[in-house]
Amino acid sequence: MKEINIGLCGLGTVGTGVVKILKNHKDEIKHKTGTEISIRKILVNDVHKKRDVVINQEWLTTDANELVNNPDIDVIVEVMGGIDDTNLLLEQALNNKKHIVTANKDLMAVHGQKLLKLAKRNNCDIFYDASVAGGIPILRSLSDGLASDKIQKIMGIVNGTTNYILTKMTDEQKAFEPVLKEAQSLGFAEADPTSDVEGLDAARKMTLLANLAFKMEISLDDVEVSGIRDISQEDISFARSLGYTIKLIGIASINGGKVEVSVEPTLLPNEHPLAQVKNEYNAVYVYGEAVGETMFYGPGAGSMPTATAVVSDLMEVVKNIRLGISGNSYISPQYRTQLKENADKYTKY
Ligand code: NDP
Ligand code: HSE
Repeated sequence: MKEINIGLCGLGTVGTGVVKILKNHKDEIKHKTGTEISIRKILVNDVHKKRDVVINQEWLTTDANELVNNPDIDVIVEVMGGIDDTNLLLEQALNNKKHIVTANKDLMAVHGQKLLKLAKRNNCDIFYDASVAGGIPILRSLSDGLASDKIQKIMGIVNGTTNYILTKMTDEQKAFEPVLKEAQSLGFAEADPTSDVEGLDAARKMTLLANLAFKMEISLDDVEVSGIRDISQEDISFARSLGYTIKLIGIASINGGKVEVSVEPTLLPNEHPLAQVKNEYNAVYVYGEAVGETMFYGPGAGSMPTATAVVSDLMEVVKNIRLGISGNSYISPQYRTQLKENADKYTKY
């Protein structure tokens, strides 16, 4: 089997992790996929910037055409962020029959359904597990491990930056702004951290989870969102004095045909498992009709955890290419038919 060549869009926090895993776990990856995965090109803003990983300088480019129109490239791994321009780039890549792996929840929450359909039409895979809860394989678990169940509710902490901030404000009485700067320097925050602190990043992730769990096209407009910007040290101390911890909690549920999705700061009893989730860690409860309650826990942001999810998705794409069964995502074709039926059947808030 010929080697699989990738075009990597982005060499920041996540992209650097991807390069490291492809290099450090090369044998493991080859053993599990039966194929060598090689980087051909890396799209960046600045080819002269100092990098935290050893790369072939000739890979770097600022011209997206060298990736999406490159006949040698089989898979585009998008870890650069952005919504509309990035969507155009990925559409072009799909029309050129390139498979996609992305960590970009902003993009998937807005353009995901169209990209999924375009991928299917072009017989390309598109996977995006890293876009929700970093290193926790939550989308894959919903579509594989829990595939036989009917999901009723998903609840949890899905933003690492805000959980880091709330943890430091609670446990170390630190002020909001310096802790946000720490989260930025650790690579947890978005390029514009407004989306983290105002709850939009978590809302995007809850949208992706709800779409997959309830097989519906929930839009961001359907999500009730409020963030943590206005939470003061006094609020946190007062909650503590009553035995509560404040966490930014996302909830998506389906009840009597109605879907509700929300993200808001929530008071949890100190002994609640979600109150024990610290720093950039995420935790997601999934309630299924048959399975009951399951909980997924792990690092929700950061270079290596997120890159693990990206490379695992990439390996899935490679295995599908080898088997000649491309055209997949977490939502199967049958689910997509049901998507439309459900959209007519259910009321959304
Ligand atoms: P960074 O800001 O660290 O890196 C972005 C990279 O993309 C940089 O290498 C930058 O180039 C390049 N880039 C950005 N815009 C362009 C553009 N228009 N053209 C060419 N190159 C561009 O971001 P992260 O690695 O933190 O995040 C990347 C994606 O992964 C985002 O979608 C984010 O939401 C998602 N994500 C991030 C997580 C995290 O923990 N950081 C976790 C889960 C998902 P240059 O280096 O030259 O500036
Ligand atoms: N900014 C995001 C977070 C990155 O803090 O959770 C992971 O998606």
